[in-house]
Amino acid sequence: MPPEPPPFTDPEQAAEFIRQFHREQPAAGAPKPRLRAVLDEIDRTGSYLHTPAELAYGAKLAWRNAARCIGRLYWRSLVVRDLRHLSSADDIATECFEHLRTAGNGGRIRPVISVFAPDRPGRPAARILNQQLVRYAGHQVDGAVVGDPAGAVLAARARDLGWKCAEERFDVLPLIIQERPGERPVWYELPDGTTLEVPLSHPGYEWFAELGLRWYAVPAISDMTLEIGGVRYPTAPFNGWYMGTEIGARNLADADRYDMLGTVAERLGLDTSSDRTLWRDRALIELNIAVLHSFQEAGVTIADHHTESERFLKHIAQEKRLGRPTPADWSWIVPPVSGALTPVYHRYYDPVDPEQRPAFTAREPW
Ligand code: ARG
Repeated sequence: MPPEPPPFTDPEQAAEFIRQFHREQPAAGAPKPRLRAVLDEIDRTGSYLHTPAELAYGAKLAWRNAARCIGRLYWRSLVVRDLRHLSSADDIATECFEHLRTAGNGGRIRPVISVFAPDRPGRPAARILNQQLVRYAGHQVDGAVVGDPAGAVLAARARDLGWKCAEERFDVLPLIIQERPGERPVWYELPDGTTLEVPLSHPGYEWFAELGLRWYAVPAISDMTLEIGGVRYPTAPFNGWYMGTEIGARNLADADRYDMLGTVAERLGLDTSSDRTLWRDRALIELNIAVLHSFQEAGVTIADHHTESERFLKHIAQEKRLGRPTPADWSWIVPPVSGALTPVYHRYYDPVDPEQRPAFTAREPW
């Protein structure tokens, strides 16, 4: 007889999570009966359903375990929207829009995750094809990209599916959802009122506003799988708030993104004839000042890298008092500007275990 195939959901991962849940949430009672029920359910059905409390805590643990995230001090405050009963593209789109409204909260950004139906035996979950719920399109125009090059592939896909837009620099991409492998994805324009955006200006330079730069308020990652106790939720968009450098030192500055440093330097009248004048560095700082200033003026939550670094060290200390390590990836934690000015630069971190769960993991293709 050939050996039996392993069950769809790994019982060991399930047991480990159930034990951790009951250890950290003593109010949930003794783990034994629940453990028995879960293993029995896996035996019978190949998988199991989390209770709402398990799902909520599991999602928070995935955030707590995110080694690349500097913003983990607030992991307990994550708002978990239990939408596991939803699996159609229409329903997912509708609730993603509601996610953006709830998270945007008129500018007082709230960390939110929306968890849709998981992968089940013989029934893979739907997928959101966007990297983030809100992102700008990139358009190929005369061999160059207008807009965000990071949004070029998805914009082309959207166009193939019939999406039309003006092809400007900050076109919000439609949400694209695929219900099943091989099926034609469906696209949805984001309705008015879902996408909070901030036009950028500078507190010291009037001309800065003329650059026409802007950015959206809610970074909501939609292409990672939430893994809890052996159950995979590939459709579980989540957001925090921005740290200014993500926009000012990467999205608008990277040569393969909006690549704005040359333009900013020129308007500043800097000597760009040699790298040694540090014109890029000076332009970069002014761009970052503009980002923080504009979000603040617009009443939209944003953190500066100094404050967020201190919060992260506070988080590590708090976890240590509870007897828990805080694995972290130095190269992701240290901000992309002024690294050594922040305390997170001057130390090492607990090693990262890629097998640690719950976790947000790179989504596998169907
Ligand atoms: N760095 C990404 C971006 O600029 C967002 C990653 C998540 N960031 C966050 N603050 N939660 O869009």
